[in-house]
Amino acid sequence: MTETLHVIVTAGPTREYIDPVRYLSNESSGLMGFEIAKALLAAGHRVTIVAGPVHQETPEGAERIDVMSALDMLAALEEHFPKADAIFMAAAVGDFRPATKLGGKWKKKEEGGGPPVLELVENPDLLATIAATKGHRKVIAFALETSDGEARAAAKLVRKNADYIVLNGASALNAATSTVTVLNGNGVVWALEDSPKAATAKRLVELLG
Ligand code: CTP
Repeated sequence: MTETLHVIVTAGPTREYIDPVRYLSNESSGLMGFEIAKALLAAGHRVTIVAGPVHQETPEGAERIDVMSALDMLAALEEHFPKADAIFMAAAVGDFRPATKLGGKWKKKEEGGGPPVLELVENPDLLATIAATKGHRKVIAFALETSDGEARAAAKLVRKNADYIVLNGASALNAATSTVTVLNGNGVVWALEDSPKAATAKRLVELLG
């Protein structure tokens, strides 16, 4: 019987509002994160899911915190990560947000001018922020790469102070299967090709030891 751990799983996209009805987001369905949550529960662990806007059913026994923007997700992680033993950072966090959220609808034309210009500011790196002081906590990051994957994922592992990083390609987004390569500080640990996300999740949970 393995030790019961309290594990946080982030899942899904974040959503950054431009005005009351428009937003910036991405294709993430949250499936990978929710499969990891199920696999953790099946292994006897306690799970807190921090979910962006997704259509995923909460697995029985999991605690769920719904968030919208990257800054909302950061606030939830800053509150809950210090009390947890590990985190799987499967969320596809938006890197940028509009500099201001308009109170009313964005108009087709700016006052007296042409099309409006959307000014963006960078979101903080949530994982790097919370993992900087992780202590004994295990941090499993994800990396979505379209080229030069292993080298870029290895650099992210270091930059984000993670113990492992799960590399996948853009075809993993909103898909039932994915091809993943898991790396740690020494290089590739294992890889799975075109694997159903539930099967991948089971293997990922084993990384907790
Ligand atoms: N991540 C995060 N905060 C961000 C961006 C990403 O916590 N603002 C996390 C993701 O949840 C994932 C890991 O960092 O676990 C890598 O995400 P990815 O989008 O691949 O990398 P980026 O840091 O955004 O780098 P780039 O866009 O340059 O590839």
